[in-house]
Parts: sequence; structure tokens; C-alpha cells
Amino acid sequence: MSVTKPLMRALAGEWQAIPPIWLMRQAGRYLPEYREIRQSVGNFLDLCFNPKLATEVTLQPIRRFGFDAAILFSDILVIPHALGQRVSFSEGDGPRLDAITDAAGLHKLRELPDQGRLDAVYETIRRVKQQLPDNVALLGFCGAPWTLATYMIAGAGSSDQIPAREFAYRSSDLFDALIEKLVQASADYLIRQFEAGADAVQIFDTWAGVLSSDEFDRCCIDPCARIVATVRKRIPAAKIIGFPRGAGSKLQRYISAVAVDAVGLDWTIDPAFARDELQTRKPIQGNLDPVALLAGGKALDGAVDHILQNLAAGPFIFNLGHGVLPDTPVRHVEQLVNRVRSAN
Ligand code: CP3
Repeated sequence: MSVTKPLMRALAGEWQAIPPIWLMRQAGRYLPEYREIRQSVGNFLDLCFNPKLATEVTLQPIRRFGFDAAILFSDILVIPHALGQRVSFSEGDGPRLDAITDAAGLHKLRELPDQGRLDAVYETIRRVKQQLPDNVALLGFCGAPWTLATYMIAGAGSSDQIPAREFAYRSSDLFDALIEKLVQASADYLIRQFEAGADAVQIFDTWAGVLSSDEFDRCCIDPCARIVATVRKRIPAAKIIGFPRGAGSKLQRYISAVAVDAVGLDWTIDPAFARDELQTRKPIQGNLDPVALLAGGKALDGAVDHILQNLAAGPFIFNLGHGVLPDTPVRHVEQLVNRVRSAN
């Protein structure tokens, strides 16, 4: 039963002497065994849609580090892909999509995602579930509508998200229609992940931090709240982690309005603030600087200890404040896991 899983106990609000740990992007290029499989498939999406290989890659970090959660190996951009947008990944260049710049671009999207494409993802979940130790939780995920929209509108990654922000102001109705489509598609996608065996899911709002205060309500809080409500209508006990990266001073509002079970914090959030203002209301997940993990040594130990001193006295899941960086040495991840598990 899921209550024996430390991650699920934390999501239920329980304190544990040793906090559960998993890392965003724990499967990825920093692992030689990932790079080997990655080399064998040309296109990154072919790996996401290959249940056998995606299962293997999902399990690699569990075998190596014994994390408390496995996160489904896939990508947030499978949803735009299943909606009919062309998505590709080129080496060193990040994702490329056919940018949606007008009504014609929006109307080219399918009404509903092509489940034929997404079936492979649900099959991966079923396979991972069968092979996972009883105490390890299986996490599904999706991108939040705003973060998906940034890629769908710009057609690529960008650091300030000006194309999507401008589109939201200038073409307000079209933008709202796109967000509505993504809310429906994402809620349905998460429900199907739960039905395939996910224990919990995370909603990644990686680009929440570029939004103005008003636009944060419109683009981040409202769509995420509607996804959570839609999922819970079908699966009342669904456990959901929200990760509004960069939300900063708007985290309290996010927590009040989005009924997630835990909130993931990026590395810029002060752990003492998180303890006093956030952890009193929700379990916390986070928030080691991925660059401290890259650096290793005493700096890593100090950063880990600082987080534990502030947050390990309440319901807490240890994680990074964003994904593992590709150049991170494997031994630094071992050092991190040992440090977290030998604290006290
Ligand atoms: O281990 C895990 O966390 C599970 C797998 C996972 C991936 N992407 C694999 C991946 C998850 C949860 C994601 C989420 C994701 N994808 C997000 C949200 C979280 C975040 O990191 O901000 C976003 C914004 C994306 C979109 C995306 N996918 C980008 C911008 C890139 C290119 C950047 C890069 O690092 O190259 C990807 C590709 C991607 N997704 C890779 C992996 C392992 C690298 C591609 C490769 O191996 O060739």
C-alpha cells in the first residue's frame, strides 16, 4: 500500500526523521547508462514513446541511488505533440516547435490529444510500476499550461518568454482558448497516468517566474487550480505536487488557490521563509541549488545541511530547486543522498 512509501507519507503531511529524496531530471545525461541508451535512438521523442527503453531509463537512477521516487521518463512537450504541433529536439539547441502566432496556428491543433501517441506513456507507467520496489513511489507529471504555452507560442525555449507574454496581452482571447485546451488535455493526461499506476504527479510550471503579479493569477494559478479540481473530480485521493518555479513572493497565493498536496520550491527561496510561511500550510519539496550539486565538496554539504536544518522538522521531500545539470558528477549525487540519509 502506498502509505508504506516515504514519499506518499510526506505528501499526506507526515513528518519523517529521514526525509524522502528524489531529484528533478534524475534520469538524464549526467548518467553514463542514460547516454548509452540515448545514443541508440535518434530522436529524443522516440525514447519518450518507447515503453521498453523509457522504463529502463526511469529505473536507472533508482538502481544507482535508491531514490524514494521514480519519475516517469517522458517530456512535457509530448502534449503539444499529441495535439498535432510539430515538436523536435536538436542536440544542444533544445526543443523546436512550429510557433503558434495567430488564430490559424491555434486552429491547426487537434480538439483533443491523440491518445494513440500517449498510449506508449501509459504503457511505460504500467511497466515501471511492476518493477518498482514497494517503498518507491512512481511519479507522473505534466507541464503546466503556461509553461507549455511558452514553448508552443515561441516555437523554442527562451529565457524571458516575451513571445508568450506578448501574445497573452495582445491576443487575449486566443491565448485563453489555448490555455483552456491545455487545461483539459493536461487534466485528462494526468487522470490516465493515475489510472495506469502513478502514485502521485507533479505539475511543472517552469516559467511561472516571468509573469507579472496579475498575469500570474491568470496564467499560472487559475489553470493549475482547474487542472487539480478536474483530476480530483475523477480521482478524489489524487496526490499532486505543484512546482511554480520562480513564483517567489506569490507562493503564498499559489498555495492558497491551488489545492496541491505539496509545493516544490526553486533554489532562490530562503528555507527559513519556507519553514515559517509555507510549511505551516503544506508539505514542502526542494530546494537545493543544482549548481551546488554540480560543484560538490564542502559547499554541497553546507547547502544540504542548511536546507535540512530549516525544513526537516516538518513534512518535507528533499529535491533540487530545478533539474540535475548534465555535467553533474555521479559521485556528487551519491554524496547528496548519503548526507540527507545520515542526517540527525
Ligand atoms: O528525470 C526526469 O525528471 C524525468 C524526465 C523529464 C524530462 N523532461 C526529460 C528530458 C521531465 C520531468 C522533463 C520536464 C521538462 N521538459 C520540463 C519541466 C522541468 C524543467 O526542466 O524545467 C521542461 C521545461 C521540458 C522541456 C525540455 N525538454 C527542454 C527545454 C529540453 C532541452 C533542454 C536540455 O536539457 O537539453 C528537453 C529535453 C529533455 N527532457 C532531456 C531530458 C533527459 C534532454 C534531451 C536528451 O537527452 O537528448
